[in-house]
Amino acid sequence: MDTHGQHMASIDPVKLQNLITQGLQRYGGQADACLPLLQLLQEEYGYLPLEGLRLIAEQTQISGRQIYGVATFYAQFRLMPEGKHRIKVCHGTACHVRHAQQVTLALRKLLNLADEENTTQDLEYTVEEVACLGCCSMAPVMSIDQKVYGNLTPMALSKIFNQTATPNTTKTTPGDH
Ligand code: FES
Repeated sequence: MDTHGQHMASIDPVKLQNLITQGLQRYGGQADACLPLLQLLQEEYGYLPLEGLRLIAEQTQISGRQIYGVATFYAQFRLMPEGKHRIKVCHGTACHVRHAQQVTLALRKLLNLADEENTTQDLEYTVEEVACLGCCSMAPVMSIDQKVYGNLTPMALSKIFNQTATPNTTKTTPGDH
């Protein structure tokens, strides 16, 4: 969980404490407050900052273990912030048989993502694996925000990220025809 350290830098501790205080006034500090308190955090930050979870554990009757249990049980909660750009790597059947797994590994390496991480430390990219993106003839495929890239190889990935290093440039789609 310490991998959150760099992301925490952008969180204002006073604002965070105020939010928790409001939540405690509204929901109390017993076990049944856990879910709404986490929802409050998630609504404000788009994920559950570790420091917020610590404050809840310190200031309520809810244990860190219970909080972690709820935070990881519900799909609505994220333990990491979202990146500015969302990368969807297709692992549908057509992409799978055309080596989507290797593409994913190469992508994660390129973005320096540790095993459990899906968002880059600079908060530029969040990577997720999805089912069919609807462009099977271009398999293996990924999208960055709305833009689709097909016929991916580790080499093609490097080129794409060299091009996307400059925001708002018009990108070409390798093999898009
Ligand atoms: S299976 Fe990947 S685009 Fe359809």
